[in-house]
Formats: sequence, structure tokens, C-alpha cells
Amino acid sequence: MGLNIRGRSFLTLLDFSKEEIEYMLDLAREFKRMKNCGTDHSYLRGKNIVLLFEKTSTRTRCAFEVAGHDLGMGVTFLDSKSSQMGKKESLADTAKVLGRMFDGIEYRGYKQSVVEDLAKYSGIPVWNGLTDDFHPTQMLADMLTVEEEFGKVQGRKLTFFGDARNNVANSLMVVCAKLGMDFCACAPKELWPKEELIEKCQAVAKETGSVLTFTEDPAEGAKDADVLYTDIWVSMGEPEELWAERIRLLKPYQVDQAKMDMAKKDAIFMHCLPSFHDRETDIGEEIYQKFGLESMEVTDEVFLGPKARQFREAENRMHTIKAVMYATLR
Ligand code: CP
Ligand code: NVA
Repeated sequence: MGLNIRGRSFLTLLDFSKEEIEYMLDLAREFKRMKNCGTDHSYLRGKNIVLLFEKTSTRTRCAFEVAGHDLGMGVTFLDSKSSQMGKKESLADTAKVLGRMFDGIEYRGYKQSVVEDLAKYSGIPVWNGLTDDFHPTQMLADMLTVEEEFGKVQGRKLTFFGDARNNVANSLMVVCAKLGMDFCACAPKELWPKEELIEKCQAVAKETGSVLTFTEDPAEGAKDADVLYTDIWVSMGEPEELWAERIRLLKPYQVDQAKMDMAKKDAIFMHCLPSFHDRETDIGEEIYQKFGLESMEVTDEVFLGPKARQFREAENRMHTIKAVMYATLR
């Protein structure tokens, strides 16, 4: 029997099997090919989706908008400032209204329970565009990028340097466990993923042969790595006062040329973006003035170097989000 995830929500990759994730990656490759050939793929003409953003975004919003348009759908954008959501209308009521008008909902915000409730009350597929806990659409783009580079993800090692209990690191651990890729969280112990999630992922990894490791030693993290991955040190929704503490904790985990040199010869650098790799942003400049750091989670040298794949990864957000919407709405 063929795989069928029509009507399902996409809230965390913990809900999907290895085969279902591979199915979405296969679809994404096909959509990428069609986009590059200029082949029409407006298969969801007549459908409408709404994008709810309680946190800011460039990639995720644009990926959903372009993917929605390419599939022939109507796309509506709502943020918390310009809608009643939260302030004047409960989440359950909002979900019930949207479920009567739209075919699918994208949500980016804070608690994972909110995206789960949206799915529960709307009765239509809901796609998690990032919560405090998970960022599952990012993972499909990341795995597509790794596959494009190395052929397959199985048996490769991805090391995450930085705040290893944030949404991106949590999701990387889940997707690696699901797909049989080795995952290493390289961070100070207080920033390792929560024990409960580690246990869930270890159980999955046992089935797929993925090896999950946790280390405070940057050299051990870089050793034998095929992918060196990092993300910003303070995530959206966290207090600004955390910067000083995070800089102190995470400076040794900055991805620099020395760490790239310790990894495998053909290793690549990845980052979900946005990134503080120079002083060309307001926060980047502020951090420089306060702490004297020219770059944070990755040096400019690595970010602009020949091993960096973050912009291909960003493009792949669009192809993979298209696959998720098509698979759940078709
Ligand atoms: N990687 C990512 O989700 O980027 P945005 O915050 O710009 O959507
Ligand atoms: N961890 C980051 C990811 C941004 C795409 C954040 O939540 O801000």
C-alpha cells in the first residue's frame, strides 16, 4: 500500500515514521525538479491556506507563500498585531473560524501546545512553522540538503554546536534518530536537550541504527563530523538579558575554521538562519559594542567559505514545505 498522510497535521517529526519522512523528501525533490524546469505544478488550485505568525520570519513565511502560490492556492497572512488572535479571541474560537474558511493553517509562535490546539479545534491540517520546542519544516530542508551533498543521510554524523536544547537542535535530534543519521549535541551540559526528549529519541535511534551522543568537548564534537550545524545563541521569545550568559557559555562552541578543519575532509557547514556572523545587523553591532565579539555562533570566514551550504538549505525550505502541504492537502 502506498503512503498516505492526507489530512494529517505536521506538528513534530516524532509523529511521522521514517518512510513518511522519506516520502515527503521524495516529493520535495520532484517539486524542486519541476520548479527548475518551469513545469506547472498548481495541483492544489481552488484551495486556500492561512499563515499565522506570532514571531517574526523571513524564510518560513516566504517559503509558505511561494510554495502556496506555485501549488495554485490562495494564501492569507495574519500576525498577532493585525488579527484578534489571543487578545480578543481565544485560540479555540480562532481555530474554529479558520477551519471553516481555509484548507490548511501554518502557525509560528511560542508554546507547542498552541499549535497542537489549533490542529485539535480547526479540524484541518496544521503545519508547525516553529514553536519554542520544535521546527519540523526546517528539518526536511536540512535533510534534503544533506542528501544532495552526500547521497544519503544514513551513517553520516551531524554535530550541533550551541544551544542544544532549542527548537532547531531538538528537531535535529529527532530527525536524525528517525532517519538513521548520527547526531551529536556539542554544548555545555546545561544546554543539552531535555532528558525526556533524549529518551524518546534514543528509543527511535535503537530501531534505525542512529547513534546519539552528547559532549561538552568541541574537539570531540567536530571529530568525524560530516555536518557542522549551528544556530543563534538566544532564540526568539527568550529575554535579551540572556546574551551575556550565553556568550560566556557558548563562545568555545563557535563554529570556526579550526573546528571545520577537525571534521571530515568533505564536511559541510549548515545553519537554519538568520545568523550573527558579522556586524551587519543591529544586534550584531550591539553585541560587538558590549562584548567585543565580531561574530557569534559562526565566524564570517566559515559562513562565507567554500563549505557553507546555508543558502541552498534556505532555498530547500520552499521545496520541502511545498511537499508537506501537497502531501497533507492533496
Ligand atoms: N530558518 C527560519 O525559520 O528562518 P525564518 O525565521 O526567517 O523563518
Ligand atoms: N532557534 C531560532 C531559530 C530561528 C529559525 C529561534 O527560535 O529564534
